[in-house]
Amino acid sequence: MSQITSGIRATLSHPRVYDKLQNIMGAQAVRRDLVDNFIRPQAGCRILDIGCGTAEILAFLPETVQYRGYDISQRYIGAARKRFGHHAHFECKQLDRVELEKLPRFDVVIALGVLHHLDDPVVIEIFSLARAALVEGGRVITIDPCLAPGQNAIARHLILRDRGQNVRTQDGYRNLAAGSFSRVDGTLRHRKWIPYTHWIMECVV
Ligand SMILES: C[S@@+](CC[C@H](N)C(=O)[O-])C[C@H]1O[C@@H](n2cnc3c(N)ncnc32)[C@H](O)[C@@H]1O
Repeated sequence: MSQITSGIRATLSHPRVYDKLQNIMGAQAVRRDLVDNFIRPQAGCRILDIGCGTAEILAFLPETVQYRGYDISQRYIGAARKRFGHHAHFECKQLDRVELEKLPRFDVVIALGVLHHLDDPVVIEIFSLARAALVEGGRVITIDPCLAPGQNAIARHLILRDRGQNVRTQDGYRNLAAGSFSRVDGTLRHRKWIPYTHWIMECVV
């Protein structure tokens, strides 16, 4: 994983600090938008979350979804289990082919704020795993900070200082998904509360 973890950014590995900062940045509105307009969960649908972190997205999903989250951070998974362990399943490990064999197929795979932390070959492998994890007609939803021409100068400044060292342009993200999916749709969202630019992808098998 390509990520800055020194200096002030080291505090972000603490789950409560991470969640607080995210919420100040407007993460709750972002999650509402993601769930309503992109994840669009049906009752009882199966959702696989790769890089789930503290799994804050669960607060916006109906309790009927069958959710399974993977993350390599023990601290984030500990916080997720404490809050949501009664109705969701979490694994503190990297998802791989062996692990995938043990799982049912999913209707939606999500990777929220993950790709910009990872080098190209790792992202390509994650898309390949996500495709293999899906039912026919299933979808992958991703969201990441994005460099875009003409974006707000404050947004660009903040994004260039992200912990993730692989922030890309929309084509940069799209090209990595295109090898695994027949259709990749994308939406650029310019946030206003604290200026920020997100690229949201919906990838269809
Ligand atoms: C910026 S956080 C996003 C967390 C969460 N998805 C959210 O929306 O708040 C990125 C997460 O990806 C996790 N991560 C990075 N590479 C991973 C991998 N290969 N497998 C699982 N988790 C990974 C990190 O531990 C971190 O929790």
